[in-house]
Amino acid sequence: VLRIDFSRQGPEIPETFHGIFFEDINHAVDGGLYVELVRNRSFEQKTRKYEGWQIERGDSVKSSIEETYPLNENNTHYFELKFPETDRATLTNLGYGGIVVFQGQEYTFSTYLSGDFTGTITALITDDNEVLASGNVLLHQPAGGWKKYMLNLIPTKTSTNSRLSISILGSGTLRIDMVSLMPRKNWNGMREDLLRMLEDLKPGFIRFPGGCLVQGNTLENAYRWKESIGSVEQRKTKWNFWGYYQTLGIGFYEYLLLCERLEAEPVPIFNPGISFQIESPEYASEEELKEWIQDVLDFLEFANDATDTYWGGVRASLGHPEPFNVKYIGVGNENWGPRYWENFEKFREAIKKRYPDVKIIFSGPPSYEGTDFRQAWRWARENNVEIFDEHIYASPEWMLANTDRYNRYDRNGPKVMLGEYAAHTDGKRNNWQAALAEAAFLTGVERNSDVVIMASYAPLFNRVGWSQWVPDLIWFDGYRVFGTPSYYVQRVFAENRGDVVIHSELTNEEYRMFGYRYKHLYHVVTYDEKSKELIIKVVNPWPEDRTVRLEIQGIGLEGNGKEILISGGPKDENSFDELKIVPKERIITGLNTSFEYTFKAYTVTVLRLKVR
Ligand code: AHR
Repeated sequence: VLRIDFSRQGPEIPETFHGIFFEDINHAVDGGLYVELVRNRSFEQKTRKYEGWQIERGDSVKSSIEETYPLNENNTHYFELKFPETDRATLTNLGYGGIVVFQGQEYTFSTYLSGDFTGTITALITDDNEVLASGNVLLHQPAGGWKKYMLNLIPTKTSTNSRLSISILGSGTLRIDMVSLMPRKNWNGMREDLLRMLEDLKPGFIRFPGGCLVQGNTLENAYRWKESIGSVEQRKTKWNFWGYYQTLGIGFYEYLLLCERLEAEPVPIFNPGISFQIESPEYASEEELKEWIQDVLDFLEFANDATDTYWGGVRASLGHPEPFNVKYIGVGNENWGPRYWENFEKFREAIKKRYPDVKIIFSGPPSYEGTDFRQAWRWARENNVEIFDEHIYASPEWMLANTDRYNRYDRNGPKVMLGEYAAHTDGKRNNWQAALAEAAFLTGVERNSDVVIMASYAPLFNRVGWSQWVPDLIWFDGYRVFGTPSYYVQRVFAENRGDVVIHSELTNEEYRMFGYRYKHLYHVVTYDEKSKELIIKVVNPWPEDRTVRLEIQGIGLEGNGKEILISGGPKDENSFDELKIVPKERIITGLNTSFEYTFKAYTVTVLRLKVR
C-alpha cells in the first residue's frame, strides 16, 4: 500500500531544485554549444602547431606559426606565409572532424590579416573537390597592419563533411589570425538545437564553468573569468584541464545571458587559490590569493552593481545595463583540508563584507563518504557554512541502496548542493539501468528538499568522438543531438517537481543483496499549487511488475489525470538513430482516492492527479 496524507505537508521544493552543471569537457562548448566551426582559429594551440589545419603550398612558399607581430597581447600566435615570388598556398581547416553547413544558410567568414602581401585571397567552403561557397577577401592590395575582413558565404548544398579553405595567390608576407566561420544567425554564439535541449530541462540553476576546469592543472590554466569577456579576439585561448585549447568564446557574460534566457539562477564557481587538488596541487601565495579573492569581488560588481561602478560599467558596455542579480558564489571545486578551509574563510569574509546576501557554497572533497568527507562536514558545521557542494559518482547499486541518504542529515546544518552526480554502470554506459538508479536516488533527494536545495547531473554534454568522460547527459555531433535515458529522467523530474513534498508511506519489502539493502519501489509524492495536481513519482528498477494500492487521504480527487511513463530494458540506450527511452504520456480517468496501480518492471512512472 502507498498511503498519501495530503494534510501532512513536508518541505517546500525550491524552484532552483533541478539544475544543470556546465563545463567545457568533451567539447561541450568549443566544438559544441559555441557556434564557431573552425578549430584552432587563433593558432594558439602551440603544443601541436597545426592542430585543426592542413597546408598545401607551392615550392617557394614557407609557412610557420609566429609570434613577433601579435594581434594583441592575449592572442600572440598567428600563421605566417612567406611568398618570395608569386606562388600559391591553401590553408584548410577541418573543424571537428568535418564542418557541417546547410544549404542556403548564411555563414559569416572572418579573418584578421596583416603583412606586405599583394595578391588574391579566397575563402572557400568545399566538400571533396566541390566548391559549396566562396568569396574573395583581399584583391591586389598590400595587407598592411592587422585588419579584419568579413564575407557572407551561402553554401549551395548541405554537407556534414566540408572544410574551410583560404586559398592564396600572390607574393610577399601574409599573416593570418582569428579565422572564423559561424552561422550568421545565432543566439549569443550558441547552437540552437543544443540550446533547445537545455531549455527543455527547465533548469532552476546553472553551475558553471566547471569542475576541474576551475581548478586547472596548475594555477596557470585555472579558469579566470576576466579572460572570458569582451571581444573574442581579446579572450585568451588557453589549454584547459580536459586536454584541449579553449577559446572562451562562450564566457562568463554569455553564461549569465544563458541563465537569464533559461530563467535559471547563476551559480558561478571560483578557484580558491588551489589547483587540481588530487595531484600535486599548487597553492597561491598570500599575495596571489588576494588577487583570486578580488576576482570574485570584481565579478559580483560586474554582475550585480550599478553601471557607475567600474565593472558594472563594463557589463553595460557589453549591452546589459541591468544587473544579473547573482545570489550564489561557489568557492572551490572538490577542495578539502585545512589549507582550503583557511582560504575559504578569507573569501567568505571578503564577499560577505560587500555582498552580505550572497550565499557562499563550500566545496566538498571528491569523495562522498570516508574520512575527508566527514572532516569536511565537521568543519562546515562548526563554521556555519551555508551550502555544501557534494559530488556523487557511484554505481547504480550504491544509488539504489542509498536513496535515504539525506533522511539522516542535520536539519539545522548547512544545506546541500548536489553539484554533480551520475550513476556509473560497469563500462560506464548511458543506459536505462543507470537512469533508473538516478531516478530512484532523486526520489530520496526530492523528499529531503529541506536539506538538498539544488541538484545537477554531470557532465552535461558529449561530442561523439571528442570526449574525455562518460557517461554524459546529452550527446551530439556537428548537426545532430540526442538525450540519453538520464536526460529524460532529468527532464521528467524537472517538469514534475511540485512545490511541496506530501507525506507518504509505502509498505515496501526490502531486498538484501551483496551487503546492500534495496527497496521494491522508490517513490516521492509532491503537490503542484499552480495546476492543483498531486504528483506521484514511482521508480521500479527491478525485473518484476509491482501492483500497489494507493490510499489518498486529506483531499478529494477529480478522478482524472495524466500518466507519464518511461520504460525500457536495463541495457537500452538512446542513439542518433533511435530514441528507445523517452517519456510517453496518456490520460487516466476514473480514479478515486483508493485505487490499484501496477508499476511495471524497469519503469519510472509519474501520476499527475487533479485534486478537488
Ligand atoms: O564532471 C566531470 C568532473 O568530475 C568535474 O570536472 C569534477 O568536478 C569531477 O571530478
